[in-house]
Amino acid sequence: MRVYTIIGARPQFIKAAVVSRALARAGIEEHLIHTGQHYDPELSGTFFDELGLPAPAVDLGVGSGSHAVQTGAIMTALERYLLDRPKPDWVVVYGDTNSTLAGALVAAKLHLPLAHVEAGLRAMNRRMPEEVNRIVTDRLAGLHCCPTQTAVENLRREGITRGVYLTGDVMLDATRFFAARAGMQVPPEALTPHPPRGYYLATIHRAENTDDPARLRGIFEGLGRLDAPVLLPLHPRTRNRLAGIDVPAGVELQPPVGYLAMLTLVRHARKVITDSGGLQKEAVWLGTPCVTLRDETEWTETLAGGWNRLAGADPAAIVAAVAAAPEGPPPAFGEAPEGRAADRVVAALCATSRQTGFSTPCTS
Ligand code: UD1
Ligand code: UDP
Repeated sequence: MRVYTIIGARPQFIKAAVVSRALARAGIEEHLIHTGQHYDPELSGTFFDELGLPAPAVDLGVGSGSHAVQTGAIMTALERYLLDRPKPDWVVVYGDTNSTLAGALVAAKLHLPLAHVEAGLRAMNRRMPEEVNRIVTDRLAGLHCCPTQTAVENLRREGITRGVYLTGDVMLDATRFFAARAGMQVPPEALTPHPPRGYYLATIHRAENTDDPARLRGIFEGLGRLDAPVLLPLHPRTRNRLAGIDVPAGVELQPPVGYLAMLTLVRHARKVITDSGGLQKEAVWLGTPCVTLRDETEWTETLAGGWNRLAGADPAAIVAAVAAAPEGPPPAFGEAPEGRAADRVVAALCATSRQTGFSTPCTS
């Protein structure tokens, strides 16, 4: 069985790292295709080195651009590349980026079987580019690996019931595996001079926040009113939008950090304050309350007991959400029905290819 994996952005390297290991355990040949959507070493190369991802078979090197330019460039380069290669049993795409959408469209038009890992997520907000990418990808995929029952239900509401597997969340696998590797001791001085629970950890990169100066200003104003320093490893998208924004003294900007460092910083933060999808979940899994700088979340399970609170971009709402304490233990979600989510993804790939006769049998 031969799998082509298409990835291009930071969270996809993390998700693919655990599935890649599971594919190798099952003796399945994987061919990694990097679209080049993320290219700075601290958003890309660092993750390949640190997470033990095999070097990509190819980097399409598309880089940045508007949605149409970037998606179109990935499609053009990917189609050319795939036409020259043996047919895979599966093309696997992850999450909701422009690399996901472009990979899905090219696979569908070349009549290649398409699997979507992290299928079925919905924020119910079609103004988000990610929501458009998810809806189209789920419509095209023949195999849907859903992280939660909520995701399965979202697909069912859209009439998608075939090839739907509840696999659990591969990011939970990644959090567990790499947290054990990181050791999670108190963050070293090089990461932060502040003691455990003596700092907030923030990230901001969503288009709805970075591309709206009023929202971005509101977020920084809110962060500046908090009662402890705020560490902010800055995504380049946000760095490029800081002109005219007043960065308060308590907000400590730094370049993006590697995944093991990030997990350590999350574990010991007083709270995580973010508009990231992945970080909301990691915070709750690691027992650190989260405040989300958005008006809705696709990860609704995190909201239980106030472990994650939606604050949007309003300074007063951010301060109030940060001050509010969660109740009870952190919610559990994303667990695989049995074993690890990455192994369930591989089992779903194998089971479905046997049914459809796409492939030679695989060993798992
Ligand atoms: C993308 C995804 C988003 C995901 C995020 C993960 C889409 C539409 N968005 O957002 O869903 O949450 O990745 O981090 O696919 N840039 C650099 N260096 C890089 C990459 C980007 O400087 O290596 C800058 C460029 O100015 C670029 C901007 O960041 O225009 C945005 O990059 P892009 O990949 O388009 O989207 P992200 O905001 O990273
Ligand atoms: N992350 C990281 N270093 C950073 C910021 C984020 O390793 O400086 C990790 C984070 O822990 C999570 C993933 O990147 O696992 C989330 O990626 P991002 O927020 O870019 O994308 P999203 O999840 O919103 O799509």
